[in-house]
Amino acid sequence: MFHSEGESEDSFYTKKIGIIILAIESSCDETSASVCRDGIILSNYTANQTVHEKYGGVVPELASRAHMQNIVPVVDMALSNANCQLSAIDAIAFTQAPGLIGSLLVGAQFAKSISLTLNIPLIAVHHMQAHVLANLINDPKPQFPFLCLTVSGGHTQIILANSTIDLKVIGETIDDAAGEAFDKSAKILGFPYPGGPLIDKYAKSGNPRAFKFAEPQIEKLNFSFSGLKTSILYFLQKEIKQNSQFIQENLTDICASIQYTIINILLKKLKKASLQTGITDICIAGGVSANSGLRKAFKEMGEKNNWNTFIPDFEYCTDNAAMIAITGHFKYLAGDFSDLSVSANAKAAWD
Ligand code: KG4
Ligand code: ZN
Repeated sequence: MFHSEGESEDSFYTKKIGIIILAIESSCDETSASVCRDGIILSNYTANQTVHEKYGGVVPELASRAHMQNIVPVVDMALSNANCQLSAIDAIAFTQAPGLIGSLLVGAQFAKSISLTLNIPLIAVHHMQAHVLANLINDPKPQFPFLCLTVSGGHTQIILANSTIDLKVIGETIDDAAGEAFDKSAKILGFPYPGGPLIDKYAKSGNPRAFKFAEPQIEKLNFSFSGLKTSILYFLQKEIKQNSQFIQENLTDICASIQYTIINILLKKLKKASLQTGITDICIAGGVSANSGLRKAFKEMGEKNNWNTFIPDFEYCTDNAAMIAITGHFKYLAGDFSDLSVSANAKAAWD
């Protein structure tokens, strides 16, 4: 499936021009590959897995099988969209951690094989660091030091970024992630997985102040979302007892109120982090940063507080290999390579 040397006479990237990185992302249920040259993304191709929808969540075994089916054609698409031959690649980057171990292993083994076969450096990338650095893909870019609220299906963190290789977690969830709060609330409402984008869709025409859900009081810059899910569940159970059609009749208002509460919890802590650090270049990242309500409220908060705000393009918010490629590029410049003994890790610590 790969383009081999000499296959296409007019391929622009047959000869080495700048640093070309091929990157693989396979930490959860998206198989993605990207090519970047000197930190410029040339392609970013992602295959989504629809097989999980009917199960209400990602089924790890099905995810790794789908990655095995997808990885060669996805890499092939990324190379051909970048008009790049495999032989022109200078290094291969892959998501090493965190994620589903079976899914990570597919990408890791594939990347190691390429590294071994082409005799090029192997670069192991931390998925959450890559979400943060997705903000450095396009212009305008934040200046260091900047803060980043990273909100995904598995994590909710506030990051202090001092440089491309010096990223510190200064706040994080003590239980569920923001994405889980969206997905679990959506499941209660009867939506298929992942429900976050559906809550976003229905919230657009609802009243965000129609129903009030308690916000947790958590210390420092940390978050908690598990109580919110329980309070939504109890609220709906009580209402449904009196009116079995309560959800159907109030769907847009319920979605808007849930979304409003989650956004409030997130942005209050982000404001606190800015006040504590004095940093005003502020980003958001991760799958939940695709949420239209969060994007709008974040921009509004930025205008009120004189922040410079940054949000990655939509395609770089949810899981994608372009963010692995840009992180791989910075690691390449820092000479931060791995040997073939590196292994995928479901729960790797940040450092
Ligand atoms: O970063 P991501 O693609 O994967 C992980 O690394 O987890 O994030 C996935 C999460 C899911 O919880 C999904 O429901 C949520 O991002 N998400 C959204 C939206 N788009 C994706 N949540 C709310 N509104 C959206 N528009
Ligand atoms: Zn992610």
